[in-house]
Amino acid sequence: MEKIQWDDSLSVGVELIDDQHKMLIMKMIDLSNAVEEHQEAAFIMRTIDFLMEYSNFHFTAEEKEMEKANYPDLEEHRGYHKKFIEMIKTMEADMLEEGATRAIGESVNTFLWNWLANHIKEVDMKFGKYLRETG
Ligand SMILES: [Fe+2]
Repeated sequence: MEKIQWDDSLSVGVELIDDQHKMLIMKMIDLSNAVEEHQEAAFIMRTIDFLMEYSNFHFTAEEKEMEKANYPDLEEHRGYHKKFIEMIKTMEADMLEEGATRAIGESVNTFLWNWLANHIKEVDMKFGKYLRETG
């Protein structure tokens, strides 16, 4: 698993989005810590909820920026965001059913980090490139 750290190489060139990505990474670190410190299930669930809440907030803001810029890949991008939220919801449901077992916690941790690293570096970056080319 690649735990990304924010540095300039992750900048998409929009301050608002960059700042929110930093916050998103911080929420991920909170979750990671909760999992790695074997916190109780209720606590892990709460950090997942915070992450989901912030993800929703951030995705909406990011999509607004894309709308403003007439970004042609907006619908596709919206789909990635939706999928992420759905995956978190599925994970939460699994946890409710089976408890926050170490195995689930670790897979949540790995999956979410991979998604986030890939999403920022590949997908969000494409939007940054589009802005630079059209702006
Ligand atoms: Fe995105």
